[in-house]
Amino acid sequence: MAIPVAKKYIADFENMGFGMFVHWGLYSQVGQGEWHFHHSDITMDEYKKLFDTFTAEDFDAEEMVLMAKSAGCKYITLTTRHHEGFSLFDTCGLSDFDAPHSPAKRDLVREFVDACNKHDIVPFFYHTTLDWYQESFETDFDAYLEYLRKSVEILCKNYGKIGGLWFDGNWSKPDADWKEDELYATIRKWQPEAMIINNTGLAELGRLGHPEIDSVTFEQGRPTPMKRAGMPKYLAAEMCYTINDHWGIGDMDFNYKSPAELIRTLCACRKVGANLLLNIGPTAQGGIDPFQKALFGIIGKWVKVFGEAIYEVKPYPAYCTSPNFALKANDGSALYLFFTDLSRGGSAHVVAGTTKYAGAYSFGDVTDEIESVHWIDNGEELSFLQGDGMLTFNAKGYDYGLSTCVRVAKAIIKK
Ligand code: GLC
Repeated sequence: MAIPVAKKYIADFENMGFGMFVHWGLYSQVGQGEWHFHHSDITMDEYKKLFDTFTAEDFDAEEMVLMAKSAGCKYITLTTRHHEGFSLFDTCGLSDFDAPHSPAKRDLVREFVDACNKHDIVPFFYHTTLDWYQESFETDFDAYLEYLRKSVEILCKNYGKIGGLWFDGNWSKPDADWKEDELYATIRKWQPEAMIINNTGLAELGRLGHPEIDSVTFEQGRPTPMKRAGMPKYLAAEMCYTINDHWGIGDMDFNYKSPAELIRTLCACRKVGANLLLNIGPTAQGGIDPFQKALFGIIGKWVKVFGEAIYEVKPYPAYCTSPNFALKANDGSALYLFFTDLSRGGSAHVVAGTTKYAGAYSFGDVTDEIESVHWIDNGEELSFLQGDGMLTFNAKGYDYGLSTCVRVAKAIIKK
């Protein structure tokens, strides 16, 4: 069965590879994640006090965009409205529960989009479908869906070209008729080339949805290869991931992931052709947390060195000892060989348990003829043998002075 050809905007999305997710809302002032209202006993009237203190005085869209850009992210997905029902955008009279009516008195989505456009980052809008604020969500679902559709229409009409819409919450009423046809038709009318994504949640990673959906989601779980043969349409895949245990900032969450784990996760996504959407939770009034910035900064250093291996590439069906793998440049010029298990060497007086070099590595089923192989980080050539589909070479481990956690060799394909 044939694999469907990707529409251009879906292929473009896939080629971007790495994006930044931003969870910011009234809840950020509490510092216990974005589910605070649901997990506490307070009433919506009490919760609404957070609206009166929301000044957004620390929000600098440009700083956020530049942080994403220097980490190597090509797009940012911002929570324009989360489950609490508060909108960071001007709802144009649909509701007073939005940023322009709050003490912030600004359309924060406008600032976000302007900063993205200025710095060549593609803006995406997260929008909840579940709403704890709108009573109609429980009492008059049809009226609620119309409110949702009009909100989305505002986002599609008022901010120029956007990369896509990222919905979240249909899992809260799995048996309801969400009238997805109407919602997605509204998007297609104003933004024919926007990615439409609807998060299937923790319990259903990678599940296919409505035919208008352009990418499946893997929330907090490593993506598995897509079985695209026979599908009516080519779908992208995206994993979204927290850098600690919360999406909205958690002031008492110290369980941060290491840069090494995050880099490995980015590579594991690319291994199967999926994107990674890595989250930050800005502070109470929209500032960037310095530690989160530093984490993204380290990832950015890795991407600066090895980035050519993660954008505009496709999975390559070469087999090798897991967890290593190969990707192929879309222009057919090279294979990128990813090593995640290299050993470390150096003087036994400074490197504990030194094993020095990793030894011979083989990739099987390499159908392209290779001209030369070198490490991307230092350009060092690796001698190799190729025959019967096997590409074999001595992949050295790290000398003291280098430890990139994932190291990539570039194999140039003969023209
Ligand atoms: C979940 C949560 C949510 C978060 C999202 C991100 O479905 O409800 O708070 O925004 O995942 O993937």
